[in-house]
Amino acid sequence: MSDFTWDPETYLDVMAEEIPDYRRLQAELAAAVAEADPRTILDLGVGSGLTAKRVAEALPDARIHGIDESEEMLAGAAQVLEPNRSTLSHGRLEDPLPKGPFDLVMSTLAVHHLDGEGKADLFSRIARVLVSGGRFVLADLVVPPDPEDVVTPIDGVVDVPSPLADQLEWLSEAGLTPHVTWQHRDLAVVAADKGR
Ligand SMILES: C[S@@+](CC[C@H](N)C(=O)[O-])C[C@H]1O[C@@H](n2cnc3c(N)ncnc32)[C@H](O)[C@@H]1O
Repeated sequence: MSDFTWDPETYLDVMAEEIPDYRRLQAELAAAVAEADPRTILDLGVGSGLTAKRVAEALPDARIHGIDESEEMLAGAAQVLEPNRSTLSHGRLEDPLPKGPFDLVMSTLAVHHLDGEGKADLFSRIARVLVSGGRFVLADLVVPPDPEDVVTPIDGVVDVPSPLADQLEWLSEAGLTPHVTWQHRDLAVVAADKGR
């Protein structure tokens, strides 16, 4: 799924081809975000900006700060997000995060690019930029217990998803309280809350 070029006209179709439940994944993430009713949101791997746009439409008072390592994707996000309610900056998930603090951190289909150690480290850093009572919502590919449930092709190099159980453990170790809000085959949405 790493092999695509950015074109706002075709992006959704390409994603839907590789991830048939992409729109459902977006909807489930948006629901877990809206439930927390945040005012400040950090989107890690904002990419096309299309998921952030969906969230912004549901939360008219929210501001979204999106980071991505791809200047091309950031240019695409700038085309779809309202400039007065969004900030876009170049950044890698492996690097220090914007300090915030944020009411909510979200990430759709980007964290699976980090290996297990990288994910655990990222989850700890996310916990530190969340306000007390804040939430992290992760919507991503996972390694399903049954290999028959793999839908999206994984190259094992750029795409390195982890089992959901491991990610729940790393989120707990980061001091968050995770619960799975949706799971289907090799996709999952997890809301991980920071205590007050
Ligand atoms: C499949 S796209 C998903 C984009 C968007 N979140 C969405 O919902 O459609 C993955 C995005 O993650 C970004 N990305 C991948 N690895 C990254 C990293 N290590 N640091 C920052 N961005 C990364 C890519 O540039 C790409 O824009």
